Amino acid sequence: MAAMLRIVLAMTTVAAISAVAMGANYDVGGPAGSWDLATNYTQWVSGKAFRVGDTLTFKYASSHDVLEVSSAAYSSCTTSNPISTKTGGNTVITLNGTGSRYFICGTLGHCAGGMKLQIDVAAPTSTPPPSPSTTPRSPVAPSPRSPAAPSPRSPVAPSRRSPSELAPASSTPGSVPPPSAPPTSPPTPSGACLQAKAALGLGSGIVMLMLVAL
Ligand SMILES: *[C@@H]1O[C@H](CO)[C@@H](O)[C@H](O)[C@H]1NC(C)=O
Ligand SMILES: *[C@@H]1O[C@H](CO)[C@@H](O)[C@H](O)[C@H]1NC(C)=O
Repeated sequence: MAAMLRIVLAMTTVAAISAVAMGANYDVGGPAGSWDLATNYTQWVSGKAFRVGDTLTFKYASSHDVLEVSSAAYSSCTTSNPISTKTGGNTVITLNGTGSRYFICGTLGHCAGGMKLQIDVAAPTSTPPPSPSTTPRSPVAPSPRSPAAPSPRSPVAPSRRSPSELAPASSTPGSVPPPSAPPTSPPTPSGACLQAKAALGLGSGIVMLMLVAL
């Protein structure tokens, strides 16, 4: 039983790590072409959804290179002052941030001849896993805050704040709720605790189901 639990934990860990670390690789121009003068990169890019963590692999002949350039340099095919220059026939670019990136060939006339690639990188897909873990965290935060707030206030309140607090209370009968407002705040932390406990219960229930399923 313990061995089985260890296997389940190991599998879960591997799945979680690979979901975050492994991105897709795109062979630029592939599968039919590469980084060359024949491929239409507008066409190649269409329908692809690049994400942070993915990689681009440029494969090219020695007559080409890979310049990463600004948007303006991409538009005008300006090869001077590129962001980076790669040579050697096999260049892997890691898409480590969101936004647009621009690549052109630095050989005279090749960018104008079509060797220009613009890609838009979106945030990674593996955002759902983090959100459940942050959900139990946020309800816990209010609970230390709300009990702490009334306690320092109550010793100080009689001397300093009683005039200001009494002023609205005496002005209208409807302002009786303000004194009753503090009592309503304690239920909130206990409710949050219940939510956190429910989340923990749900989580352990899922693990139990996984174990039963195996
Ligand atoms: C490349 O493909 C795009 C989209 O399919 C098309 O609009 C464009 O005319 C093509 N460019 C060339 C040079 O064939
Ligand atoms: C992406 O990688 C480049 C080159 O390694 C580096 O200069 C840049 O700071 C990285 N950006 C992010 C957001 O990590």
